[in-house]
Amino acid sequence: MNILLLGSGGREHAIAWALAKSPKCEKLYVAPGNGGTASFAENVSGLNAEDGAAVLAFAREHAIDLVVIGPEAPLVAGVADVLREAGVAVFGPDAQGAQLEGSKTYSKEFMEANGIPTARYQSFTDEAAALAYVDELGAPIVVKADGLAAGKGVVVAETVEAARDAVHDCFSGAFGAAGATVVIEECMVGPECSLLAFVTGGKAFCMATAQDHKRAFDGDCGPNTGGMGVYSPVPIVTDEELAAMVNVMETSAAATAREPFEHDYRGVLYGGFMLTEEGPKVLEFNARFGDPETQVVLPRLKSDLVDVMWAVANGRPEDVELAWSDQWAVCVVLASEGYPGSYEKGKVILGVDDAEELEGVKVFHAGTAHNADGELITNGGRVLNVVALADTFTEARELAYEACDRIEFEGKQYRSDIGYRAAAVFEER
Ligand code: AMP
Ligand code: GLY
Repeated sequence: MNILLLGSGGREHAIAWALAKSPKCEKLYVAPGNGGTASFAENVSGLNAEDGAAVLAFAREHAIDLVVIGPEAPLVAGVADVLREAGVAVFGPDAQGAQLEGSKTYSKEFMEANGIPTARYQSFTDEAAALAYVDELGAPIVVKADGLAAGKGVVVAETVEAARDAVHDCFSGAFGAAGATVVIEECMVGPECSLLAFVTGGKAFCMATAQDHKRAFDGDCGPNTGGMGVYSPVPIVTDEELAAMVNVMETSAAATAREPFEHDYRGVLYGGFMLTEEGPKVLEFNARFGDPETQVVLPRLKSDLVDVMWAVANGRPEDVELAWSDQWAVCVVLASEGYPGSYEKGKVILGVDDAEELEGVKVFHAGTAHNADGELITNGGRVLNVVALADTFTEARELAYEACDRIEFEGKQYRSDIGYRAAAVFEER
């Protein structure tokens, strides 16, 4: 099978690696890919992943059997719709389904209509009305730009003043069109947990739980990032909480397939949950694999990912079979100094091969490239995802950090406490 994967991050390296392991994968293209995917797949530059017609032309020219869409932007832009209409198999929901991520208002209406537990909210297109609602609810309160804002459109405001500023920023165009509608919601408390599911034909096939670490520094301090580390599974989740989360994913998958939503949903639904005292509630849905969750979830998948994606893309839930390894996975993100603010690129990276010599270690590239001399260099804020698998959480965590020590580049920045909530559970026992 010839496969085209769209995207360039650590998530895409992990997806590409899992696809390439399959004997069914003959030729794999990644557009644009990164320094990691270049070593075993063909990176394609100059293809605009958000232009459905261009992706279709590439697919036809290269006899592509399956297109896998990694990031949200091409999904929201309707690339899956264009390909599917032309008869090309695609892993990824249609534009309507991608609205579960592309519009927070849409997503909230979907949850409300299907009895999915989530924070109370209201949605506004008028600043004065939004400010009045902030005054009414008081702080803490959460202000969100409705549309895609690369994870930056959410402010958890501790004071009414901060919330009013966030509302004003949104309506003043801080997030462009994405902020023309603002969602204001109740602030929930509790640890977070992600549960991803393959969704096709109205059925959900849940993967393992994972817990991301969004803040830049140890102890969950500093600014929000795209994610500084993650582990799977999450031992703080009780059986009851897991059952509630699975129920949310199954209820949502079923709802995608019937009126009034009727999405052509064939891809991944990402449930971001907060484990509140009243049970798990949905923080957000995403219409794609999580980054960095994918980097700990896919290495634990024992089934052939090409088979799974083919079944999902063709709307055949009866053909989806998932088998998982019992191992624990921990991923530490190595970032550039200054991330998530400004940072320099082009630093030479050494030691990736040494790190991967450790049994159970896999290094996924997020922001890397090769320079003219063929050396691996930094090319983004999040540079490498160091993943370790082992029979216990503690071993996996130690192994991940041992691997991180073997990798060097100027300005290497990482958190030293990834998985601290899980570590506390095992210390207690
Ligand atoms: P979102 O993109 O909607 O998941 O929001 C990003 C982050 O903001 C989440 O991972 C939470 O840490 C936080 N957040 C979002 N909504 C809420 C809420 N209603 N209550 C508390 N924290 C929230
Ligand atoms: N890890 C958060 C996300 O992928 O949106």
